[in-house]
Amino acid sequence: MNSTNFFNPNGDDILNETLYGANPTGFVDFNRPKYKWSTNIYDLMNANTWFPSEVNTSAEKKAFEQLSDNEKEIYKLTFAQLSFNDSAQEEYLADFRRLATNKIVKSTLTLQMMQEVNHSKSYAVLLDAAGNSNEVFDLYKTNEALKRKNQRIADQFAKYIEGDSADGMLLSAMASVNLEGIYFLLGFSYIYVLGDKVPGARDMIKFISRDELNTHLPLFANIFKTLQKENKISASIIDKSYEMIQEAVDIELEYGKYLIDNYSIMGLREELITNTVHNYANDRLTKIGLDPIFPKTNTTYLQKLVDKHLSMNDVKQNFFETNVTNYAKNSIDFDDF
Ligand SMILES: [Fe+2]
Ligand SMILES: [Fe+2]
Repeated sequence: MNSTNFFNPNGDDILNETLYGANPTGFVDFNRPKYKWSTNIYDLMNANTWFPSEVNTSAEKKAFEQLSDNEKEIYKLTFAQLSFNDSAQEEYLADFRRLATNKIVKSTLTLQMMQEVNHSKSYAVLLDAAGNSNEVFDLYKTNEALKRKNQRIADQFAKYIEGDSADGMLLSAMASVNLEGIYFLLGFSYIYVLGDKVPGARDMIKFISRDELNTHLPLFANIFKTLQKENKISASIIDKSYEMIQEAVDIELEYGKYLIDNYSIMGLREELITNTVHNYANDRLTKIGLDPIFPKTNTTYLQKLVDKHLSMNDVKQNFFETNVTNYAKNSIDFDDF
């Protein structure tokens, strides 16, 4: 490899380091960010750092055993899928990071990779406490619906990450918007529906969802918008972005419907999950500067559950108190546009 990849005295001025195609000097200088959103998101991610050991999982086995049979299946199949998302995202970010030429954005992606690994660790801690770790992590081997969702996500990730182009990078960013903003959401809300019955799982999901929705999704939304602004992105590439989110909605609803059709639990109906996923997809499109294309309905019960747990005000656990002020910064504006 060329040494200019590490030290490049004739590289671009740091304030001209574009997201794609720049010639960086090699230095990470947080005092001179080209994009204010990049340092804001980095600081918030850092401030929100948490560890799985902070969640009380001591009663998880007892809690799990008291669930109904259908609730147990929803619990296991939800964590089996969510844990795949985080494993895949950590690997994918390493590939995506290679395409980026703005050093602060690269640093932020590095921190995100650490957080995704932290999420993987948290599933292991939780499922070990629940007493079903190996069974849940291996469910993809026997459950065709789970296997299919994971495969479709992996296929969308793999589709555009190869090569080196602004178009490919933009579509790869779209795959990440889908992961952070769509594929987790029914899983999060299913665990919140179980709620007080599984406090360990619920609290772990609270932490994970805050990382995904308060920082990872805004990071990739800004990356998408910046790539579009700095490069000549054709209408056909934007059309592909719409196709990708349509596919993401299909992937999420297919698995979501499979779960509620086979393991019916109170409060979950097909219309509710369809409206929820459509509303999320419209929101994600708006966040990346595109037009909402899905049928619109009022904010659903499941969305309200997810929102409620994103806010810090309802958190009463002692271990969290020192971090509350940091989470309060979630209201800062990430948008430079
Ligand atoms: Fe994650
Ligand atoms: Fe994430």
